Amino acid sequence: MRLLSVETSCDETGVAIVEDGRRIISNVVASQTVHEKTGGIVPEVAAREHLRQLDPIARAALERTGTDLAGIDAVAATVGPGLIGALLVGANYARGLAFSTGKPFIGVNHLEGHVYANWLYETEPAPAEPELPAVVLVVSGAHSDLVLMEDHRRFHLLGRTIDDAAGEAYDKVARLLGLGFPGGPLIERAAREGDPKAFPFTKAELDGRYDVSFSGLKTAALRLVRELEKKGPVPVADVAASFQRTINEMLAERVARAAAEHAVRTVMLGGGVASNLALREEIARRVSLPLRVPPPKLCIDNGAMIGAAAFFSLQHRASDRPTLVRSTMPLAG
Ligand code: KG4
Ligand code: ZN
Repeated sequence: MRLLSVETSCDETGVAIVEDGRRIISNVVASQTVHEKTGGIVPEVAAREHLRQLDPIARAALERTGTDLAGIDAVAATVGPGLIGALLVGANYARGLAFSTGKPFIGVNHLEGHVYANWLYETEPAPAEPELPAVVLVVSGAHSDLVLMEDHRRFHLLGRTIDDAAGEAYDKVARLLGLGFPGGPLIERAAREGDPKAFPFTKAELDGRYDVSFSGLKTAALRLVRELEKKGPVPVADVAASFQRTINEMLAERVARAAAEHAVRTVMLGGGVASNLALREEIARRVSLPLRVPPPKLCIDNGAMIGAAAFFSLQHRASDRPTLVRSTMPLAG
């Protein structure tokens, strides 16, 4: 079964063709660069960019498969969570495509997409599927959810951020350090030259055993940078490395605890922040179960992960699928 899948929930325009929910035939992604000027995403600008980019990207994705729409069995798109204008562009485009070609439309929860990115592969032979149940950490620019995936599409929320998402904290601290946007990869690069123990940050401890909070860390970084500025040039690499170490340890501690306290067979990561190599290493160090992490280009938003999630939503609990566009849409209750 070949799906054409569309992702436009934030600032990446993605269209992919995925076979049987796992094999990527083509996956075209354009990251919007217009937001660099503003240092953050302007929702209206994002929606207009998707509108401009989507059709050429869909054509490019199809072209690479060597077939046309006749070779596609269904059309999928992210319907939430995300920026409402951005979501509407992608979901309406996909719906129009499905309607005009007489194929089914499949609405997808973006967060399920980040989880199912772990099922994707590009070249044969197919790697083994992740074994369930699993503990899954979805960390992106808008979410930091720790979930127990009991079976396909059965998610139980263990913990989440009570304020900023991990990616948001990365982006804010990167801006503070004058590194640019999006901040995660820039902090990671700067951190390679820095001492992760240069500045000890306090880690927030919360009542919710698996919850996290990053707003205190963000404020502490702000205070530290202001103090350092008074003394001379800010040691950007040391601040970046210390911040990255703190945030990664906070996430890794919770993942390791969740893996130890639940009878699971796998630990999985997903979302843009999961492309952080230091985070993977920190988790791998603490967890003895098989750890699955998509390659970096499948951690950040892309169409292929939506195709994977769409396929598995046809196989499992098909009646429980989102159809309408929503800015909020939890992965699990
Ligand atoms: O999943 P994603 O592409 O979009 C959302 O669904 O939000 O995640 C984007 C987020 C941004 O906040 C970005 O700074 C962060 O992921 N990110 C990283 C890295 N690459 C992207 N954070 C830490 N380290 C990275 N290497
Ligand atoms: Zn995402």
